[in-house]
Amino acid sequence: MKLCMIGTGYVGLVSGVCFSDLGNDVICVDKDEYKIEKLKKGIIPIYEPGLSELVKKNYNSKRLSFSTNLSESVKKSQVIFICVGTPPKKNSNAADLSQIYNVAKEISNNIKSPKIIVNKSTVPVTTGDKVEKIISRKVKKKLFNVVSNPEFLREGEALRDFIYPDRIVIGTSDKRSNKIMRNLYLPLMSKGAKYINTSRRAAELIKYASNAFLATKISYINELSNLCEKIGVNVEDISIGMGLDKRIGGRFLRAGPAYGGSCFPKDTRAIIDTAKNFKTNLSIIKSVILSNQNRTSLLISKIINLLNNKVSKKKIAFLGVTFKANTDDMRESSSLKLIPNLAKKGAKIKYFDPTGNKKEFDKIKNVRNSSSIEEACYDADLIVIHTEWNDFKSLNFKKIAKKKNFIVYDMRRLFNKNKMNKSKIKYFTIGN
Ligand code: UGA
Repeated sequence: MKLCMIGTGYVGLVSGVCFSDLGNDVICVDKDEYKIEKLKKGIIPIYEPGLSELVKKNYNSKRLSFSTNLSESVKKSQVIFICVGTPPKKNSNAADLSQIYNVAKEISNNIKSPKIIVNKSTVPVTTGDKVEKIISRKVKKKLFNVVSNPEFLREGEALRDFIYPDRIVIGTSDKRSNKIMRNLYLPLMSKGAKYINTSRRAAELIKYASNAFLATKISYINELSNLCEKIGVNVEDISIGMGLDKRIGGRFLRAGPAYGGSCFPKDTRAIIDTAKNFKTNLSIIKSVILSNQNRTSLLISKIINLLNNKVSKKKIAFLGVTFKANTDDMRESSSLKLIPNLAKKGAKIKYFDPTGNKKEFDKIKNVRNSSSIEEACYDADLIVIHTEWNDFKSLNFKKIAKKKNFIVYDMRRLFNKNKMNKSKIKYFTIGN
């Protein structure tokens, strides 16, 4: 099929490249000329394992192309995916949909033959209705159909998640569009993905409901981990014991720091905004947001406790600062609150992240980037493992930390507490 992805951010680029790898002709469009020029040279704007190789492979085989010309790209394509950002509006829970509506207007100027317009961006319920309204101002209804096809990719695992999705959700009541979308996804269904066809509004809501539920699961286990610490129980036993019940499921039950990223914090707020517009109170999700906000303060108190209430001049090494491993993304990472807060209290902080220096910390007094784990840790009083990169999973702390009585605080539970204690390392971890 001939496809066009509008927006070369996470969703657009990953889906575009993967669709081309499945044998489709894909044009990835972006108005950012600099970005498009770089992509043509195989330079990828985001950090995602395996993506660069796949871009080069499909670009060289000419199934994948990049363009800044939206009108030409739309004219050439049968299915047009809208993959632009929907960040939160300033001082509001609501999603800013201006990019979606601008793209809809531009598309409407270029429809001369039948097209399917697919919304892949995360958009509040009724956005599809509005996109349809905008396009129908210029285009006869029989020439186009607006479909919702939410994306469930995780950063750092995006290629795998695209190729082996648990489900593909297509929101449309138009039979012809459903058939075309089903054909497009057929190669993934043969690998086990379930395909469901729902109403457009249901598909839009499935995305938010899923993200909010995952955020709830994480907050639930995070709160339980606080209880486990008090009663001397390992939270991992609880996660395993609960997760083996198929009604609960073991994934997303790993206790850790406050969840972050570009999706959960934004989407939990946006679904509350949608519910408010429909006069519904989603009190559980409101509690989840609050619980996640409180988590960072709680972890700061724990660190202060570990340092015997003497934070000033203490040397703290942070290992990993991104919101999770295998990404360079800092958005809503809990480190953005933990590090400045401790630095303000006088701690001297060095951080090491496998994806390098972070501009977010450049101007913060008492905080500096280290080029290696060793450099960050050798004189540390406290080592905080903040992100679960493989690089940190088999560290020999006795070799890298030279200070007497250094402490390790593991927010990702990467090590066995008993083994660490046996080797006389002052090791503390969340939920144990
Ligand atoms: C999330 C969803 O998992 C994807 O399905 C969705 O497509 C995506 O948002 C999106 O809406 O675009 P992502 O934000 O990339 O994906 O990252 P996750 O792997 O979900 O992690 C989010 C946060 O939860 C991270 O801070 C992570 O450390 C934390 N987390 C995750 C835990 O603390 N415990 C867990 O068990 C799992």
